[in-house]
Formats: sequence, structure tokens, C-alpha cells
Amino acid sequence: MAKARKNGLYGGVSAELSALMRTGWADTERHDLALDEQAPYAAARRAALSARFPGERLVVPSGNLKARSNDDLYPFRPYSGYVHLTGDQARDGALVLEPRADGGHDAYCYQLPRDGRDTDEFWIGYHAELWMGRRRSLAESERVLGLPCRDVRTAVLDLAASTVPTRVVRGVDPALEAAVRTDEERDDELEEVLSELRLVKDAWEIGEMRKAVDSTVRGFTDAVSELSRAVATSERWIEGTFFRRARLEGNSVGYGSICAAGDHATIMHWTTNDGPVRPGELLLLDAGVETHSLYTADVTRTLPISGTFTPVQRQVYDAVYEAQEAGMAAVKPGAAYRDFHEAAQRHLAARLVEWGFIEGPAERAYELGLQRRFTMAGTGHMLGLDVHDCAHARNEEYVDGVLEPGMVLTVEPGLYFQPDDLTVPEEWRGIGVRIEDDLLVTGDGHENLSAGLPRSADEVEAWMARHAG
Ligand code: GLY
Ligand code: MN
Ligand code: MN
Repeated sequence: MAKARKNGLYGGVSAELSALMRTGWADTERHDLALDEQAPYAAARRAALSARFPGERLVVPSGNLKARSNDDLYPFRPYSGYVHLTGDQARDGALVLEPRADGGHDAYCYQLPRDGRDTDEFWIGYHAELWMGRRRSLAESERVLGLPCRDVRTAVLDLAASTVPTRVVRGVDPALEAAVRTDEERDDELEEVLSELRLVKDAWEIGEMRKAVDSTVRGFTDAVSELSRAVATSERWIEGTFFRRARLEGNSVGYGSICAAGDHATIMHWTTNDGPVRPGELLLLDAGVETHSLYTADVTRTLPISGTFTPVQRQVYDAVYEAQEAGMAAVKPGAAYRDFHEAAQRHLAARLVEWGFIEGPAERAYELGLQRRFTMAGTGHMLGLDVHDCAHARNEEYVDGVLEPGMVLTVEPGLYFQPDDLTVPEEWRGIGVRIEDDLLVTGDGHENLSAGLPRSADEVEAWMARHAG
């Protein structure tokens, strides 16, 4: 029987209560569940992975619950590589690709089954089904995922007993990781390949990216409609407004929303979001809705809180806009991945030289990277299940690689003048501008998935005038 909870008001369970709890329940097995629409895509992704590691067992866990305090838990977010290969989001799961003699693999999935109602498991304990909500049975999981499923509670013993050469994704499930004797370098190669397999999105993923971006566009419009309420309160109102849309239409936000008014816009990762929202200043909103399938958008707009840019704000905005135009023009199949970054940075370096903030000539400033004092970050990244997607891919496949149709990336140049930067005129200090869009590489160029939001200064002002609330 489960251990009594410390400080719980009930000290124990009588035999009579235990017997009472085990009886009188209907059979709730679901026989109506069908194969998930993502399953054939997940099977193709597994086939691509299998081809890379003949003769080796691959273990890709989903991860475990993490306690925030006592029985209060952080929201569970499965490891993206597991989601990609299964379409599943269950905790305590693991995909296993078991090598066959012909060089291929048989796939199966470890899952945490339902708590049987013939033991106390289902109603006693922090993680019991009666407290946490119903899980799928193994048979249900098999139907939904299209994969044979096994009880994960035997996984540690099964895997520890085997001598098949194995690779595991590290840092996701400590117990499973400890059960397999693997080599760190070889495990890192597995994670690299998993990242690289996600560089080109399949048709189903592109559909999900469209949903994420479309919901994000609605979330930005919500934020503009409620700007006056943010002025009356704080950046928190913007954060809550966007989050409401994210929860309503998707799973959550795909990363901590950056709701940065005034000089907070110069802080790249401002997620504290507790500052004032003042007319006359800018609001930099960087946010993305994550779909139910866990694909995320990543969009930034920089908005004049009063509805109109000041001349200096517009000057900065226009330079970033032009840099983004230059960057986006370089996004096409066959182009070097770096091209869009270099085009945008060159443009910003030239402007900064023109304004006298860095020493020219512009090409020399760019070669020395002097613009980075004000541009700070790289101009974009791959996007998908993770906001910074495919982060473990090898350089030659990603930053030193070539764009291919089906890749989705952000183009997000920015200029950030710190409030204490004595090298720029006072009027420029505390201005931060970023414009970020999500681009799908197509057969002959790109499609801006977030084109539903205005980008130029004039379009932004007109849009704000239409939606201002
Ligand atoms: N929101 C994080 C980024 O733009 O990369
Ligand atoms: Mn962003
Ligand atoms: Mn980004």
C-alpha cells in the first residue's frame, strides 16, 4: 500500500476502505479511439532515423514530471524529439527502436499504463489517476499511436538486462538513462541526428506551423485591442492577454512572452513583464502560440504605444524594417543559411555608420562586427517544436548549411540602444526595435507565414488605429 502522506489528515487506510474503493467501477476502456492523423508522418520520421543507425537500439524518452514543491508539479512538457517520432505527449514514455538482423528496426513505445482499480494505486499517492486525470491504457495507446506499447514499469529491468548496443537521448529520463550502458559521444550523435531530422518539416508539420502562426496573429491583435488597459496597469496585462489566446486556441505559449515596454525593449530576454506601459514609448512584443501538437510560432512586433512613432523611433524602425526586407529576400532554396543574417547585418552596419554610431567604412565595420553593440543577437533561427529548433544539429547541417524547401525559420533583425549608452544621443537611449517573422522555404523562394501582421511603420500605425482599444 502507498505510504501515508506526511502531514496528511488521514493517517492510513482501513482494509474495509481499501476493499470499498476497489469495487463498483464501470469498464471505461475506450474502444472508439482511432489512429492519430500524425501517425503515418511519425512512422516516416522513425524510418529516416532507423536508416541512420543499423544494428543499434535507440531509446528516446519523453521525460518525467517535475515537482515544484511537495505534490505541486510544473506543467509537463515532453521532450520534442519524442513528440516528433511518435506524435505522443505522454509522460514517462519512451520510444525504442529495436534493431533487426536486416539492418532495419522494430519500433515500440513504453507507456505508463492506467492504474488498475484492483489495487490502491489508482486513488492513493500524488500521481494517482484519480487525482491527476485519466491516462490511456496500453491498448488505447497502441490504437492511437499505431505502435506496439509496453508497460514502462518494466523498462528499466528490460533495458538493463540487454546487451544490444544502445544509444539513449541523455538528460530526459534519469532512470532509463541509468539502465542502459551507453557512451556519451555516441549518445550525442543520436541527439544531433534527431535535431537534423527536424530541419525540414513534413506536410503535417507545416500545417501545424500555420495554425501556430495564425493563432499568434490573433494574439497580437488582442494585445493591441487591450493596449489602453495595459497603459492603465502594466506589461503584465499584455502577457495575460496573449496567454489567454494561447490557452484558448493552443496548448500554451511556446516560450516566455517578452512584453517589453520602454527601455525594457533593449533587454533581449525581458520576460519579467512587470513594468509600466507609457504612451510615447515603444512596446516590443515577442510571443508565440504553441499548438496542441506543440509546434510554436515566434513573432515580434514593435509598436508605438500612443499609436504613432516619434521621428527617432521611426528612423530606427525603418532601418530594422529595411534590414528585415534584405534578410527575407535572401531566404530561398539553395541559398546559404547564413545569407539572410549577413544581408540584414550589413544593412544595419551601414545605417549605424551613417548615423555616426560606429566607425566606417560600413564593410569594415561589418567585418569587425562593430554593429553587434547595437544588434546583439543573430538574425534568426530554425523554428518548430522548439522555439530555437534543431539546436543540436551539426554546424555543417544548420548554420553552415543550405536552405531547403520545408525549412521554417525566423528573420528577426533588431536595434537596441541601451538606456545608459553614452555613445548615442540621449533621444536614442532606451529605444529597442525588433521585427520578427516566420518564413517557410518554398520551392522557389519563401512564404512569410506571419504576413497577416503589418510590418512597415505606416501599416503598423494604421493597424493600431483600427484595433486600438
Ligand atoms: N523569442 C525568442 C527569439 O526570438 O528567438
Ligand atoms: Mn522571438
Ligand atoms: Mn526568434
